[in-house]
Order: sequence, then structure tokens, then C-alpha cells
Amino acid sequence: MTDTSSLPTTRAFPTARPAGCPFDPAEDYARFRTEESLTRVSCPAGIDAYLLSSYDEVRALLNDPRLSSRAAVSTHVVLDRDLDAPTVPGSILHLDGPAHARLRRMLTPEFTVKRMQALREYVRGLIDERIDAILAKGGPVDLYQEFALPIPSLVICELLGVPYADRDRFQAQSSILVSTDAAPELMAATSQEVQQYIAGLVMTKMAEPADDLLSRLIQRGNESETPLTLEELIVLGLSLLVAGHETTANMIGLSTLALLRNPEQLAALREDPSLAESAVEEMLRYLSIVQFGLLRNATEDIEFGDETIRAGEWLVAALASGNRDESVFPNAEKIDLRRNPTTHLAFGFGAHQCIGQQLARVELQEVFSRLYQRIPTLRLAVPFEEITFKDNALAYGVRGLPVTWDA
Ligand code: HEM
Repeated sequence: MTDTSSLPTTRAFPTARPAGCPFDPAEDYARFRTEESLTRVSCPAGIDAYLLSSYDEVRALLNDPRLSSRAAVSTHVVLDRDLDAPTVPGSILHLDGPAHARLRRMLTPEFTVKRMQALREYVRGLIDERIDAILAKGGPVDLYQEFALPIPSLVICELLGVPYADRDRFQAQSSILVSTDAAPELMAATSQEVQQYIAGLVMTKMAEPADDLLSRLIQRGNESETPLTLEELIVLGLSLLVAGHETTANMIGLSTLALLRNPEQLAALREDPSLAESAVEEMLRYLSIVQFGLLRNATEDIEFGDETIRAGEWLVAALASGNRDESVFPNAEKIDLRRNPTTHLAFGFGAHQCIGQQLARVELQEVFSRLYQRIPTLRLAVPFEEITFKDNALAYGVRGLPVTWDA
């Protein structure tokens, strides 16, 4: 048995995408997958970690209860981040074991396939309204700002029960919150405002319950042995907003760009909207927008193959790499909208697997079966080379997507 603390070479955590291929993950992954297991990497946060890059390794890692999620998703790539900061109550992503299971149990009934199907009509109406507004305005428009960002934001408003009168302001604020280039002062002030807003919303729902997620969450908590505290409810509300807004917006923006670059695939989808379900799974796999993977910490010594990972060591599950594993997804570097790779890793795996995945699917499926059909001549309004990407953000995507069409 090898003691992994003595493993030799430490490589830099792979962050850079291949030149000219903004949809492909870093080239190093392919080599790590075939030549190495447990690649030792040094991360921008100032820690060394084991990088797991094959599909099977990623799943095994994410399904192992001896690994803690206490450090936030992907913070290994955030410069000089304190990964040992205490976990905030209600922060579902970072809790482990029974504390995590308690919150997950209370939230799960809100995200059943049945509930999400019921939201589908609302989502479809919203998408049609947005497309009408874009068509009325005339091209070129920034599809990211005018379409990709507002849809998930308004869907979360509906989910949380944000009153209609507050939605425009809430949407403007949350789009600042998830932007990667807002000035730090604006970001801090907006974050404060959104937190206060959610706190007010939770208190309103406590006093006057309605038919929405927050009200039901409060009630479910009250019926349990350990009711949710105000702080937990606020943090849960914020977590849903942050986890569900930019991720879905990035998927809408980036998949549209990738499809515009693959016109024969786009034509197939345009001509047969029933391809949307499979197309969504394929784009989730192919783009793997949680681009730097998921960070975990070993809570005890773990035997991995013929090696031992010591308690306290950091590990990273490289979702983007697992999703390009040729042994599971042949021709993984190609988009094949008919592939239907439902076992992809884009939503993670194991206890923390994305709780909002059915909602994200409904939103993306409705976009995929409406946008390209209603604007069949949709195309970029600038050369492809002028599109800029969120290279350093935890969720990858375009910064803007200027498009136009034949009037
Ligand atoms: C395409 C869009 C989305 C992607 C790619 C995505 C991706 C992910 C991933 C990879 C995780 C696992 C994190 C981990 O294991 O550490 C996760 C967890 C989570 N996601 Fe999503 N997500 C998306 C949309 C949404 C939506 C729409 C919501 C809700 C409105 C949401 C809410 C959450 C929450 C609350 C968690 C934490 C679950 C837990 O810790 O038990 N996500 N997501």
C-alpha cells in the first residue's frame, strides 16, 4: 500500500481551455484520465489536492460519505480563500451527514418531477413573452442579458413566492449578484439588499403563509422536531437563488452559442423539437459548466485503489473531465443531440446532487423547443472571436451574446 502523502509530482490545477476551443475543458484532463489516477495538483486557493478525472472515479468520490463538503463548491480555484471558515447554518451545499440530510429532506418535496411539470406552463409562457419582447425590439440584442438571465430569475421568483410588484427589482439585483464583473462596492451593497429582501420575504411568509416554497418550508420545519430558524430559512432562500440563477442562465447562453457553431445539430433540433429532452442532457454533459469541479475533504483515511488518502486531504471531482470520458461517452468531444446521456455528471452525484435539476431541465427543455423554432434565422451579430467567456467564474458561460435574425 502506498502512502499518498509521499506522491511525487504536483501539477498546477488545470484551468486554461485549449486555444480556440472555448467549449472544451483543459487538455491535461485527457492525459490524467488515461495515464494517472489521483493526480496531485496545486490549487490557486493555496492548497494541494487529489484530482479525480475519470467518470468512475468522480462518481465514487462524490458518493463517499467519508468526504466532507464543508468548503464551498470549487473554492479551490479562488485565490487565497480560507477553506476552513465555519459553515453557515442553512447552507445546504456545505453541510454533511445528518445536518445536511435534515435540510435536504425539507427541500426535496419542493422539487419533485410532478411539481416541476406543474411549473412548465409558467416557464413556457415566460419564454414566449421574452421572445415576443425580443422580436418586438428587433436585432441585434444581447441574448444573455435579455433572455438567458431573466428567465431563471423570474422562475425563482415564482418558486419562492416573490410578489409581482417586486420582481423587476429583484431580478435586476440578482443579476448583479451573479455577474462576474460588477464593481466590488456595488456587489457588496446589492448582496446586502438581496439578503434583506429575502429576510423580509421569509418574515412575511411566516406571518401570512401562501402557496409557495418558502411558506411550505416554514410549515414543514414547524412540523418537524427541529424547526428551521429564521437564519436557516434566509440562507436556504439565498442558496436557491444563487445556485439556480446563474447556472441555468449560463447553460442557456452557452448552449445557444455552441448550437450556432454546430448548425447541422441546431437544424435537427429546430426541425424536431421532440429532440429537446435528449439535447438538454447532451449540452449539460458537453458543456459541464461547473467548470472547476467539486471540492471535498477527507474526514478519515481512505483507501483508494492501492493508495491511502489521509484524513484532512483535499480532493477535487473533475465533472467536466468525467463527462468527456470516452469509455462512457464515445466521441465525447462531439455534440450528438440524440445521445441522451442521462447519467452525465453536470449536476454532480451522491448526497449533494443538484436538488434543482428537474427545474433546470424544464427551463432548458422549454428554451430548446421554443427559441430556435420561433427565431429560425437566429445568428451571431458579431464575429465568434469577439465573444468573451467567464474563464475564471465557478459557473462557465458567455459574458454576453449579441445575436440578430432576419426580420
Ligand atoms: C443547469 C443548471 C444547474 C447546474 C449545472 C447545477 C449544478 C449543480 C451541482 C454540480 C451541484 C452539486 C454541488 C456539490 O455536490 O457540491 C448542485 C447542487 C445544488 N443545486 Fe444546482 N445546478 C443547476 C440548477 C439549479 C437550480 C435551477 C436550482 C434551484 C432553483 C439549483 C439548486 C441547487 C441546490 C440547492 C444545490 C445543493 C444541494 C445539496 O447540497 O444537497 N440548481 N447544482
